[in-house]
Amino acid sequence: MSFRILAFASLLASSFAAAQTADQAWLRYYGYHGGTVIPLRVRALGRDVLEQSAVRELQQGITGLTSASSYASATAITGELVIGTAPEVHKAFPALGFPIDLKPEEFWLRSTTYHGHALVIVEGGEDRGVLYGAFSLLRLLATGQDLTHLNLRSHPAMSIRWVDEWDNPDGSIERGYAGRSIFFEGGNVRQDLAPVAEYARLLASVGINGCNVNNVNAAPQLLDSDHIKQLARVADAMRPWGVHLAMSVAIASPQTIGGLSTYDPLDPAVKAWWAAKVNEIYALIPDFAGFTVKADSEGQPGPASYGRTPADAANLLANALAPHGGVVLYRAFVYNHHADWRDPKADRARAAYDIFHPLDGSFAPNVIVQTKEGPIDFQAREPVSPLFAGLEHTSQAMEVQITQEYTGQQRHLVYLAPMWKQVLDFDLRADGKSTPVKEILAGKSFNQPLGGMVGVAGVGQNAWLGSPLALANLYAFGRLAWNPDLTPEQIAAEWTRQTIGVEPEVVSTVDKMLMQSWPAYEHYTGPLGTQTLTDITGSHYGPNIESSENNGWGQWHRADRLGIGMDRSVATGTGYAGQYPPEVAKLYESLETTPDNLLLFFHHVPYTYKLHDGKTVIQYIYDSHYEGAAQAAEFVNEWVSLKGRVDDKLYEDVRDRLVYQAGHAIVWRDAIVQYFLKLSGTPDDKGRAGHYPGRLEAEDARLTGYKVIDITPWEDASGGKAVSCDQPQTPEAGTEQKPFCKAEWTWTGEKGLYDIAVQYFDLQPGKAKFSLGQNGLLSLGSRGHLWTADTSLPSSHSNGDNSTRHLVRDVWLNSGDAVDIRAIPDGNDRAALDYIEVTPASRNRELTVDLPCPQGRLIEKGDGPEAVNETIGPELAGWAGETNVGTPIEGMLVEVFHPGDKTPIAATRTNEEGGFHFTGLAPGRYRVKASGVVENGADEIVRLDPAAKAQLCLVVE
Ligand code: GCU
Repeated sequence: MSFRILAFASLLASSFAAAQTADQAWLRYYGYHGGTVIPLRVRALGRDVLEQSAVRELQQGITGLTSASSYASATAITGELVIGTAPEVHKAFPALGFPIDLKPEEFWLRSTTYHGHALVIVEGGEDRGVLYGAFSLLRLLATGQDLTHLNLRSHPAMSIRWVDEWDNPDGSIERGYAGRSIFFEGGNVRQDLAPVAEYARLLASVGINGCNVNNVNAAPQLLDSDHIKQLARVADAMRPWGVHLAMSVAIASPQTIGGLSTYDPLDPAVKAWWAAKVNEIYALIPDFAGFTVKADSEGQPGPASYGRTPADAANLLANALAPHGGVVLYRAFVYNHHADWRDPKADRARAAYDIFHPLDGSFAPNVIVQTKEGPIDFQAREPVSPLFAGLEHTSQAMEVQITQEYTGQQRHLVYLAPMWKQVLDFDLRADGKSTPVKEILAGKSFNQPLGGMVGVAGVGQNAWLGSPLALANLYAFGRLAWNPDLTPEQIAAEWTRQTIGVEPEVVSTVDKMLMQSWPAYEHYTGPLGTQTLTDITGSHYGPNIESSENNGWGQWHRADRLGIGMDRSVATGTGYAGQYPPEVAKLYESLETTPDNLLLFFHHVPYTYKLHDGKTVIQYIYDSHYEGAAQAAEFVNEWVSLKGRVDDKLYEDVRDRLVYQAGHAIVWRDAIVQYFLKLSGTPDDKGRAGHYPGRLEAEDARLTGYKVIDITPWEDASGGKAVSCDQPQTPEAGTEQKPFCKAEWTWTGEKGLYDIAVQYFDLQPGKAKFSLGQNGLLSLGSRGHLWTADTSLPSSHSNGDNSTRHLVRDVWLNSGDAVDIRAIPDGNDRAALDYIEVTPASRNRELTVDLPCPQGRLIEKGDGPEAVNETIGPELAGWAGETNVGTPIEGMLVEVFHPGDKTPIAATRTNEEGGFHFTGLAPGRYRVKASGVVENGADEIVRLDPAAKAQLCLVVE
């Protein structure tokens, strides 16, 4: 295989356009191919709409992939690329002996010669197979595979490959983190369904064949006649891509919108109502896929109201759908959320198996029981649901979450394919035989007709999933549902090559980050099977350890002064472990054989309990949180190493997200570590827990306008306290424009160059403003000492959901200096502050100054009177390097002096591009000196006019 990189960087830049298109994800075709030969002429043998989609996609894709090269003219491929169904191909090329026994969604890709010309055939069992074959061919091309001897036959392992969108008619999305719905707005289906068509194209490219468009907490009005007509437009938009529309329905609909007095699944009037409703749907949407049902769960009505079972309800709908070929995905997410937490035998994890296992065999053939991958709820780690082995006579689907509800809500990088893959490969040993989950879902283990995977996607108008790297999860979901034997590494490499870049170093760096991201997240949130130690009753985002306890939701971890974990053994606990087939049950029953990463899910142990490597549980809790947070910080460095090799906008977007994540990982780390330090009373062997060198607490500062507040939960703030700008001071006339608060500390450490992290709470609504100052002036660091708290984070009060870290680089501190934070509150955002943390300035990291100085001379002084920023005042930025070659010099010490003075008033170091940046200097004349790294330094005098921006080049002759 040969790699040719064909001016892809410029093409990448243009593909980050504003409209919501599939090329914001992986269908970018950005001018790279692996040097392979592919005919440019594409022809469809049939007229079917899916074949037409396939032809257009191939034309567009091949043109894109080959456009930036001289490839087309150089290799002059004279043959053709022909696509068609098996009968069409057989008829057109009888002599070639292509197989005609393909299954409907199966495809065969072949490269051969015909009458002396190249011939590439995409043959599908039916038109669906043709479409999937076309996308597969494009994937091979885009990832640089050699297609000379192409001979690939592939069919999906599972028949159900659906995404579920939890969209509400008003346009909001339950657990969605990428803006508003692409399907609904204001109670109706949106007029503009262009994004829906693009989404279907994206889904089809990875083989997804169904899309359930509305929340499982279903709005009944979507079943009224007007909305069914509207939904038919959605089905129309997705149809060219073979993606079938499905809907969530509320089981009480016959009563709520049908005017019946009951919704009892065995009532004849109810049956008739559903049959008529289903007929109405199919009259408008002939390829309607079916219903998803959440019933008797989290307040949703269900058959239990009439003493009926889930099978009664599922079969009611299944019988209505059966004549039309539709299916029912009945969710096993049924549990009592008012469980008694004082009862040591109560256990939410048991619920699905307890309720559904006895019903095995009583479901209609077109019912598929849809079970979340773990027994609780999409936690960072759970064991595999035992129900997969408990339904031998029922078709089954596994529900996973692409939207990262409990795994960082797309603000954190968490590539979930390794988690899903572990579940898919997990061998439940049903009946003492090999029964990996993937084979159960494929219908193979228990010989079931249907089965598959459902991914809760949560796409929105903000570039599908908001975060660019989160799209790897949507991609991976489709790929695994098609072929669960793929590895997460293979999928990551495929995705990266199509989306980010093809340079080997780009691919290896991004893939490494992806692969490390789930373990990192697990480590800094909830290791050892404690589940994600987040706010269970609220945001599901920041840390809140006790929110799991003393309530009926049943996500208990049972941490107390002596120990932690939930005893789910048969011998002494809830008996959950006994729901697994005997070999697996035995594994989890015993403390010795339970894997460490699930220990606390299955057992309650003292903090001093020793894991398999001899480390105590409490020490592991400390270590894993420090390691996880360190790993999150490392993601920033890894990504920064790709600067210039990936699209600039993408680069900045991802960098800012990773910087945020690294800060929030510290919030997590400190919350969990200080909580368990206090609860267990056991110190950290490594001395870190509870000790924060360089940290200056806000509540210990000299406060102006700020008031000390308690943070709830206490572990979300350093020492449990913060300060809130509740009584801002009116500034003296002429000094500041708005009332402000101030927290001031005296620096008593060594003099030197430092980075200062500021930990504050960013609340909605409101955009508080902050500045870091020094000795009464704005601070003189190289970057970022004035900022606005404008991130959109959960919760309306200060806590770990919105605790945010801002870093100011390269601040020169002398012992005795006063360091202050000034803040202007706004709306509900009271500019609450937790602490500042002073650490020696780090090298080898990116700064943002970008001022090339090609001529090597002073380029401009005070370029005009316009203000850079209302409060910053004069700004001085520049570049240091060698004049003759224009080479930037990194790491030079740049100092600012009042002319004639020996002591600098500000200092910084140049970044890797030779850049430096000062703000907050008063107007006047300064001497600016660069020294270090090279023998000769440079010296310049610069004059700063009020509110002017000066640029200065320091040239080392
Ligand atoms: C989670 C999620 C809910 C959702 C539920 C479900 O609990 O927080 O928003 O409704 O799962 O899957 O039904």
